[in-house]
Amino acid sequence: MKKVEIHPDAVERVKKFVINDPQLGFGKYVVPIMIQAVYDHGEWQRFDLLPYGPIQLDPCSKVLHYGQEIFEGMKVFRHPDDNIYMFRPEMNARRFNQSAHRMAMPEIPENQFISACEVICSYSKHLVPKRLGESLYLRPFMIATEVGLGIKPSKQFLFIIVASPSGSYFAGDSVKVYIEREDIRCAPGGVGYAKTGGNYAASLKSYSKTIKLGCDQTMWLDSVEHKYIEEMSGMNFFAVINGKIVTPSLTDTILDGVTRKSIIDIARSENLVVEERKISIDEILSAIHSGSCTEAFVCGTAAVIAPIASFMDKDLSVHDLPEASGKISMHLREKLVSIQAGRSEAPEGWLHRIENLSF
Ligand SMILES: Cc1ncc(COP(=O)(O)O)c(C=O)c1O
Repeated sequence: MKKVEIHPDAVERVKKFVINDPQLGFGKYVVPIMIQAVYDHGEWQRFDLLPYGPIQLDPCSKVLHYGQEIFEGMKVFRHPDDNIYMFRPEMNARRFNQSAHRMAMPEIPENQFISACEVICSYSKHLVPKRLGESLYLRPFMIATEVGLGIKPSKQFLFIIVASPSGSYFAGDSVKVYIEREDIRCAPGGVGYAKTGGNYAASLKSYSKTIKLGCDQTMWLDSVEHKYIEEMSGMNFFAVINGKIVTPSLTDTILDGVTRKSIIDIARSENLVVEERKISIDEILSAIHSGSCTEAFVCGTAAVIAPIASFMDKDLSVHDLPEASGKISMHLREKLVSIQAGRSEAPEGWLHRIENLSF
């Protein structure tokens, strides 16, 4: 494993940095340091902790033309004992490498990925916010930097980690979902399960329509029958039907969410029934009308869990959920938030303590 070289100017910059804003928001602030690693000649050459700043790219870098890019999103929490912890980072490391594999990019050994995260976290320790629900959001990403307009996999890459002290989404915030029945997000055999920029670019046209219609989130259906629920553009989907928790089973068109997996684990540990299966949008809408679907929610690292208030269909009909902040979703949210924040006991291996490596 390569040691991360610490640049003294990065240390000086971060030491002095403070944020005096109680409204941290999401992605509004970044810490003034970043990890940067260079891949060339078939291997990772070096890892550095540098001052945060612009990166220079040749206009013919492959990422700018062919979108060879992947990223991750993960959170670090300050516990009441003042230590800081990453939440299930090995799941992000694994998913990063699955994305890398699909996008013809080099993998990073899991321990190298986690150790690079540890370094930026440790040097940003004083910037990990304290209040319940707040965190330091990490954004590791990799781009293809080889210069040339030929369509082929790059041989050179840059791996970067930036970090953003982030606030809490208000626990009761519910979302209005727009059912996208025309465009699709991805198709079987494609890259839907990879966290690559193109998937998000492809969702933006629908995002604009969703917002214009007064909704918050686009719900994507399968690309073959336009019938089965897949996920939102950046979150997974759950519903409660007849007291059972249901969520679409994973396929290569759905992102394998860390929050989704954690919710399933928590629910099962409390003997709640969780079914991972195909769920058609018609099933959900008729279960809402018959009263058997009492709650639905979306989940992801950024928002943890947000209850769904309503679904809007293509004909602009609105289908309201009876309980916008359902009992089961709020219970699961509180449970997960308190595990992440060190307020209740975490299942074995879920929290990764950051050792003090810094000043
Ligand atoms: C498309 C998509 N689905 C689901 C999720 C939720 O995944 P996680 O819980 O790992 O954040 C994300 C966010 O990473 C996403 O981008």
